[in-house]
Amino acid sequence: MLGVLECFKRRSKFRVVFVLGGPGSGKGTMCARIVDRYGWVHLSAGDLLRAERKDPKSKDGELINEYIREGMIVPVEITLGLLKRAMEASGSTDFLVDGFPRNLDNLEGWETNMSDVAVPAVLYLETTEAVMQDRILKRANETKLAGGATRSDDNVDSIKKRFRTYINDTMPIIDKYKTDGIVHVVDSTPNPDIVFATVCNLFDTLQPS
Ligand code: C5P
Ligand code: MG
Repeated sequence: MLGVLECFKRRSKFRVVFVLGGPGSGKGTMCARIVDRYGWVHLSAGDLLRAERKDPKSKDGELINEYIREGMIVPVEITLGLLKRAMEASGSTDFLVDGFPRNLDNLEGWETNMSDVAVPAVLYLETTEAVMQDRILKRANETKLAGGATRSDDNVDSIKKRFRTYINDTMPIIDKYKTDGIVHVVDSTPNPDIVFATVCNLFDTLQPS
């Protein structure tokens, strides 16, 4: 029987658009809208890791918790395993992979194991740290007021660490994809309607597979 990895290597029909940008740049918001209009499946690496952390049966829960609190990037074996499982389970072929690859380890893990998956574009949501921090703190406040549980990393201390990781580890990955000529840069400072109108320019060009 073929292992999961072998199956992936043999299936070239998958398409992935990576959605990158700093914490609070609007990745989740834009992905929800893309799903609505274009039907791509949204997989957030951060959401998958948070779900895995909550699973009492997971052997990686403790490690994930620590990495997230410190704003560090979890080893790719774990994240890629979760992404692959979600892709297989979805029954779809077109995916928005949000928040991945976030560092060189993520990138190398992807290139080694997923070389058969087409990546026609990278959507990069760009805005300032001030805007991102404002959004994250607003999100945390709204969640709290609504009686929900706030994210363990939506506090000023963790946000600083997440920004540092983004600048040091994620920007070089975005630059690498820029060199490859597949990055679609969108200014995500304006309100979501305006940002989405620009995002649509990219997805309108990606024909259904
Ligand atoms: O993308 P999001 O803000 O939800 O990510 C939250 C955290 O999840 C990151 O700060 C990081 O600790 C972890 N993460 C990771 N590897 C990824 C994506 C997220 O370790 N590829
Ligand atoms: Mg997110």
